[in-house]
Amino acid sequence: MKFNKVAAVVACGALTAALGLFGCSSGSSEPAEQQGGSEPAAEEGSYTLVNDGVLTVATSPDFPPFENLEGDEYVGFDIELAKAIAEQLGLECEFTTIQFDGIVPAIQAGGQADVGISGITVDPERAESVDFTDPYYIADQSVAVMKGGDVTADNAADALNAEGMIIAVQSGTTGETFAQENFPNATIQPYGNATDAFAAMQAGQANAVCMDKAVVEKMLAEAYTDAEVVLSAATGEEYAVAVSKDNPELLAAINEAIATLQEDGTIDDLTAQFLA
Ligand code: ARG
Repeated sequence: MKFNKVAAVVACGALTAALGLFGCSSGSSEPAEQQGGSEPAAEEGSYTLVNDGVLTVATSPDFPPFENLEGDEYVGFDIELAKAIAEQLGLECEFTTIQFDGIVPAIQAGGQADVGISGITVDPERAESVDFTDPYYIADQSVAVMKGGDVTADNAADALNAEGMIIAVQSGTTGETFAQENFPNATIQPYGNATDAFAAMQAGQANAVCMDKAVVEKMLAEAYTDAEVVLSAATGEEYAVAVSKDNPELLAAINEAIATLQEDGTIDDLTAQFLA
């Protein structure tokens, strides 16, 4: 389905001219003159949506503080970011759960969701399948173990790379790749859900979990107080929104929305709310 923004933009332009005040973008306080002119391409283009008037967002809600479920409600940094992006675009926002390693393929295939917002790290291999927006968050990796074991912060780099060591990761993530590359002698055990990797460690089925730092910290603070971080690495990964390569106008519109949300402090507020 094609959603054409031209009509809406023209209508709003007339209203703006009549009021002589502000532009269309909800939540923006910039005068209309500064919004138009220089980069009108995204505003005037058209993009496709799975459902008219709705930004359908694929996410894997197993990754607090970015996305998880409270009852059947999606909550977290990425969830609020997705809603704010949709609002900038004048769209409703709906979420659909897809296991993390299926999100990029689903966006590439089309039909299920318009975008993937799920703590997705930009990487060259994924960028062959989907387009990425500008980044909105920088992430690192951490490894956690249950307290009182043989692996400590002092020996972690060697101890984690011992034969027989089992490191739980989420399937298809940068944590999985990081563990494979840095602990080649260990057994890297992938789980579909991030939360299952922690459960496996607690149950003694794995010795450690390797995952994005903010998520490890959140899981330890909230649920696994008997675990500790023994190693962190500044991988400097960039989270971005995944968009179909067939939808460049949507990519441009979301980039514009992200820029606005960066300028108006929304992303800072979300960082303070969810990542402090
Ligand atoms: N940042 C990592 C990656 O892109 C992990 C993302 C996992 N996201 C999730 N919602 N479980 O591979």
